[in-house]
Amino acid sequence: MTTPRPTSAFHAANTDPAVTERLTAALDVQAANAGVRRLRAWAHDRLAARPGERALDVGSGTGSETRVLAAAVAPGGTATGLEPNAGLRAVAERRAAEAGSPARFLDGDALALPLPDADADVVWCERVLQHLTDPARAVAEIARVLRPGGRVALLDTDWATFVLHPAAPEIRPALAAVTQATAATPDAGRRLAGWLADAGLAVDELGSDVLLHDPRTVSEPIVRGLGAAALRRGLLTEEQCDRLYADLEAAAGRGAFHLSVTMFAVIAHRPR
Ligand SMILES: C[S@@+](CC[C@H](N)C(=O)[O-])C[C@H]1O[C@@H](n2cnc3c(N)ncnc32)[C@H](O)[C@@H]1O
Repeated sequence: MTTPRPTSAFHAANTDPAVTERLTAALDVQAANAGVRRLRAWAHDRLAARPGERALDVGSGTGSETRVLAAAVAPGGTATGLEPNAGLRAVAERRAAEAGSPARFLDGDALALPLPDADADVVWCERVLQHLTDPARAVAEIARVLRPGGRVALLDTDWATFVLHPAAPEIRPALAAVTQATAATPDAGRRLAGWLADAGLAVDELGSDVLLHDPRTVSEPIVRGLGAAALRRGLLTEEQCDRLYADLEAAAGRGAFHLSVTMFAVIAHRPR
C-alpha cells in the first residue's frame, strides 16, 4: 500500500487561489534568479534530452522546465510534468497552452510515479526532494521508471549554506535553525549523488551555483518569514527580530546586504 498524498510538508494539498498566486510568484522570482538560470542551463545541457525521447519532470511547479524539455524532445517526443498541486498544475497547463508548448501535466506523487518500469528516457526533478520526508524513495522511483541508459537531473538546495548578512553573531544559530526547519530534508543538495548511487544509478557529473538574492525581490518575504518562524519557536525575541530587520534594511540601503544559498545539480544515468 503506498502512502497517500500529500507526502510533502510543502503545499501539495493547498489549492487556495491566493496561495497558488503566492507560490507562482515565488517560483517566478526563483526562475529569474541568475544562479538558478545558470544551473538549469548547465543541467539541461548535460541531460541532453533529444528529439523523440520521453521526458518526465517530477514536481513540475509552473512547468517552466517541462516546457524546456518539451522543446528538446520535439519532434516526436513527449514531456510530462508531474504535479500534485492542482493550482500549480493549472498554471502550468495555461502557460504551456499560451506558449504553444506540447508539454502536458499530470497529477501524481514522486513517491509512487504513475509510470511503468523503464518508461522514461530522461527525468528532471528540481527542488522537490528537499520537501519530502522520504526523498530516497522518490529517487528509487525515478530509477525504476528510467529505461536502461536513461538519464536524470536532480537539482536541489542545501540550506546549511544559507548566508544572511548583516546578522549579529548571537542570533545566527537561531537563524540557521529556522532556515533548516523550512524544509523536510534541508540538506538535500549534498545528498543527491548518494541517493542516486544508492538507487543503482551511475553518477556522471556534479554542478553547483550560488543563488544570490536581490533585497528588492525575494529578501523581504524570506527574511520576514524566517523572523516570524524564529519568534514562534521562541528562538528570537521581538526586539532581536526588529533589530535584524532594521540592520538588514539599513544594509540594503547602502548596498551592503547579502543573502545567498547554494544549489546543487547531479546528472546520472541508469546502467544498461
Ligand atoms: C519548490 S517547488 C519546485 C517546482 C519546480 N520543480 C521548480 O523548480 O520550479 C516544489 C514542487 O514540488 C511539488 N511537490 C511537493 N510534494 C510532492 C510530491 N510528493 N510529489 C511530487 N511533487 C511534489 C510541489 O507541489 C511543487 O510544485
